[in-house]
Amino acid sequence: MRAVGVIPDKREVRMVEHAVPQITGPYDVKIRTLDVGICGTDKEICTFVYGSPPEGSDYLVLGHESLGEVVEVGAGVSVYKPGDLVVPSVRRPCPHAHCRPCSADLQDFCSTGDFTERGIKMTHGYMTEFYVEMEKYLTFVPTELREVAVLVEPLTVAEKAFAQVWKIQDRLPWVVSEDPIKSPGAGLRAVVLGAGPVGILGAMALMANGFEVYVYSRSEAPNIKSELIEAIGAKYISSKTETVEQLAERVGNIDLVYEALGVSSVSFDVLKVLGTNGVFVFTGIPAPRPAIGVETDLLMRNIVLKNQVVVGTVNADRAAFQAAIRDLGTFIGRWPNELRALITGRFSINSYKELLLGERSGIKNVIALD
Ligand code: BGC
Repeated sequence: MRAVGVIPDKREVRMVEHAVPQITGPYDVKIRTLDVGICGTDKEICTFVYGSPPEGSDYLVLGHESLGEVVEVGAGVSVYKPGDLVVPSVRRPCPHAHCRPCSADLQDFCSTGDFTERGIKMTHGYMTEFYVEMEKYLTFVPTELREVAVLVEPLTVAEKAFAQVWKIQDRLPWVVSEDPIKSPGAGLRAVVLGAGPVGILGAMALMANGFEVYVYSRSEAPNIKSELIEAIGAKYISSKTETVEQLAERVGNIDLVYEALGVSSVSFDVLKVLGTNGVFVFTGIPAPRPAIGVETDLLMRNIVLKNQVVVGTVNADRAAFQAAIRDLGTFIGRWPNELRALITGRFSINSYKELLLGERSGIKNVIALD
């Protein structure tokens, strides 16, 4: 069957002939790919600075943001049946029994580094017609979310991040409300760095949690992203027209920064204006560039004197996938047009070159195989 593969040794990205996978274990589920999202990580893998094929293969099948339909299940599978829609997770545990995170199904915190990731690190991904996955790595998708469920994986980045933010906020009992109806972000101000899919989905999650949300991104407004962001009730600020200091002036105390930009220079500039008791979450993975100067005394003074927390987060656990499905349900009810508008194009698999190597613009572009 057709698959989009990266061949690092030959520095090639091309269509490869990939064997149709078969069910071999009782808990295996065979899935037909419906949608695969294209993200910055895929593009980076296509520049050969990241990603690696499975042992014994010269190519890696790309794709880690998938929505699929179950076509066949192993004898022990009780949860799924043919026709069900599912989203698979990305990371698989390392083989070491002493790795406590992996033993606890929390391979997103793997402590050995020997995990694998589908479509990224040593396991083939989903940019192909069929794949087989164990049921424990799948999350059920209600049919109402068919159109937008390819956004689940990028939303899990925010879900994992915010699950940690709520835990950090527990240190501020006057912020953490006893009232179950009150949103965790009520009265707080969040800045989202970057207006890509991870940023916009993060902004939606923050809005849904009651934050006042400001998205800081490069392009001058108006543009499709700024319009979408303003339509959900967040504020869009362009770094071309407002400096980081002006951003801070406009926002007031910045309680939370959700970084979804992957540009370290801008991110560390914004860290300088993080507010008192503020939390800064890094999610971007910048490509290595020459070192730049950073005002370390100022940053360290602020982190200490303002009780700040800086946290990095990668990948996501099962709970984050379930939360993402739940939240997409909320978003589609609250912002149906804006959520759909995040998917700016559905393309045939034959368009992989322009999507991965070209300058095709948009927010989230998707390869549709159905
Ligand atoms: C994916 C994560 C993955 C990370 C690092 C991101 O693009 O969404 O699942 O852990 O890249 O490889």
